[in-house]
Amino acid sequence: MPRFVATRPDTGLLSFPWDVPLEDWPEDRLVALPRGISRHVVRFVRVGTQVYAVKEVLEHLAMHEYRLLRDLERLDAPSVEPVGVITDRVDRNGEPLDSILVTKHLQFSLPYRALFSSTLRPDTVNRLIDALVALIVRMHLNGFFWGDCSLSNTLFRRDAGAFAAYLVDAETGELHQDISDGQRAHDLYTAEINLFGELSDLEAGGLLDESIDPMQTIQSINDRYEALWSELTAPEEFHTDELHRLDSRIRRLNELGFDVAEIDIITDWDGSQVRIQPKVVDAGHHSRRLLRLTGLDVEENQARRLLNDLDSFAASTDQQGEDEEIVAHQWLTEVFEPVVRSVPRDLNRKLEPAEVFHEVLEHRWFLSEQAGREVDTMKAARSYVDEVLSAKPDEKLALPTSPTED
Ligand SMILES: Nc1ncnc2c1ncn2[C@@H]1O[C@H](COP(=O)(O)OP(=O)(O)O)[C@@H](O)[C@H]1O
Ligand SMILES: [Mg+2]
Repeated sequence: MPRFVATRPDTGLLSFPWDVPLEDWPEDRLVALPRGISRHVVRFVRVGTQVYAVKEVLEHLAMHEYRLLRDLERLDAPSVEPVGVITDRVDRNGEPLDSILVTKHLQFSLPYRALFSSTLRPDTVNRLIDALVALIVRMHLNGFFWGDCSLSNTLFRRDAGAFAAYLVDAETGELHQDISDGQRAHDLYTAEINLFGELSDLEAGGLLDESIDPMQTIQSINDRYEALWSELTAPEEFHTDELHRLDSRIRRLNELGFDVAEIDIITDWDGSQVRIQPKVVDAGHHSRRLLRLTGLDVEENQARRLLNDLDSFAASTDQQGEDEEIVAHQWLTEVFEPVVRSVPRDLNRKLEPAEVFHEVLEHRWFLSEQAGREVDTMKAARSYVDEVLSAKPDEKLALPTSPTED
């Protein structure tokens, strides 16, 4: 009898053929969704409306990854959500089978190969790398050493024209109180090696824009990482009559999406110099504020965009001095929801609501520029649905019948 180790067991999972190697599972039990390159057999299954990723892997590795993913979840780090591990599997002849790690399929996520096969402008590659670098930095701030950072071990979700990256494979990870400089350097080194391989592979397959050079691209990883890491963690010294620099630093960190948990302020003996050292907590400054105000749980850049629209709504309705939560509720019901509802059902699976809203705002800007005056948001939404959205590919689950191979 297989044994289920799970914090949130889903009884629907019990009925899957655990006595059959994952590779031989009948197609009618599987959901075909794109996935990255992997060492292990990974498949997707559906229980009700929930889709799970199942990965066949040695027991101790499955348990290690399961526990780490739970820790990351507790730290609110961007990674896939673990569901459980199935151990003690035997096949119909009584031969032992490897364990299975179950995670929730990350909705609207795209493995990089799916992104590369559709949109491959150099700009897109840049944004993917930025998202990946931000993910490495966030993991390191949490004390997480990844050990195998690659595009295949990352999932991307659209985030207001940019991307938000999630860790999908924690098999080689380690969680520490604080990560050492050597471990950080090692992660960057593996990232470079892996990405070089992955980009060269795309290049060989004719999937990479000719203007993108894999070598140059990976060489920028280090600089991008260092820039963000030092902005987030480096101490800063200034004269006491420049205390506004403390404020500016906090504002810059917030702008980058990070909150400051505490700030160490040390003044020198005669009190003329100050040294500050911020301790930032995880990204999500804007998404937490939006969640608090509206209950919408979206990516960081999407939240920033939505909050801007909320601010201009407050200004245009002359409510800047009003209670923020009341105005936010009004904006939600009078602006956001009508726009999202105006997307016809059959187009619903194309993009997440917050991303649709972001695109409508972009489209509104475009129409307003053309018209030389402010175009109404609902009008922009209708035009967006007709002219832009209908032509986009589906990104939510479709219900295909056969699994996609890489
Ligand atoms: N929870 C999940 N949500 C979405 N995709 C997933 C999930 N888990 C795995 N995948 C897909 O399966 C691929 C392989 O998973 P991974 O854990 O990296 O396996 P391996 O340990 O064999 O490398 C990933 O690149 C990703 O595309
Ligand atoms: Mg992997």
